[in-house]
Amino acid sequence: MSKVTQAFRDHHRELSNQLSNYAASFAQGEKTADAQAFAAFLKNDLVPHAAGEEAQLYPLVDDLVRAHGKPTATMRVDHEYIQDYVTQIEAAADELAHTAPDKQTELRAKLGRLGLELNALFQVHLAKEEEVYLPLFEQYVSDEAQQRVLNAMHGDHDPSTTQRIDVRVIPPPQRHMLIFQTFEGLGPGEAFELVNDHDPKPLYYQFSAERAGEFTWEYFEQGPQVWRVRVGKASKHN
Ligand SMILES: [Fe+2]
Ligand SMILES: [Fe+2]
Repeated sequence: MSKVTQAFRDHHRELSNQLSNYAASFAQGEKTADAQAFAAFLKNDLVPHAAGEEAQLYPLVDDLVRAHGKPTATMRVDHEYIQDYVTQIEAAADELAHTAPDKQTELRAKLGRLGLELNALFQVHLAKEEEVYLPLFEQYVSDEAQQRVLNAMHGDHDPSTTQRIDVRVIPPPQRHMLIFQTFEGLGPGEAFELVNDHDPKPLYYQFSAERAGEFTWEYFEQGPQVWRVRVGKASKHN
């Protein structure tokens, strides 16, 4: 780790510790907790830190993510933190079930605190999806493809995808023939689902070279463990 990124992390810890301390002192009802100092810390330290990042760091990060990164990686981190809260809340709920009613006050307060923290995280997460992702999805993905994504999220079967090729269990020498044979057997507008343990980009290039304009390629899932692609035969009017 470079000295500079260590400095970023150190500064983050410092801001985070101060914020936690202020929050805890008010939550615990400390009479001496200083509200003016709390507000001043936010205004003079926390907010300028964010503004500095937007001005200096993020423009560089935009380019770096485009070249080397994965744009949704930050959202997956949110999901990890959300899952972590869920685990903690489950554990507290379990503990509560085995605690005598007169000794539950502290656990119930803990559940309330965890719920509020999760809610703050969840609200920001939803805002990011709704303000950044969904407008792109709406503008650049066809209505049919939008509907397919929604159905797949609800676990519904995509009626246009009748076959599934799980490349992970097919010996490498047979893959190419099976995939192209399956494609040949599709009618216009039909599709099969391809499942793999890495991004099947080489196959995409092969389709582009051999079947330009005749196929469609839509990711259902893009890693990190499983890649699922809807490979379709273009409708005649395409
Ligand atoms: Fe930061
Ligand atoms: Fe989400």
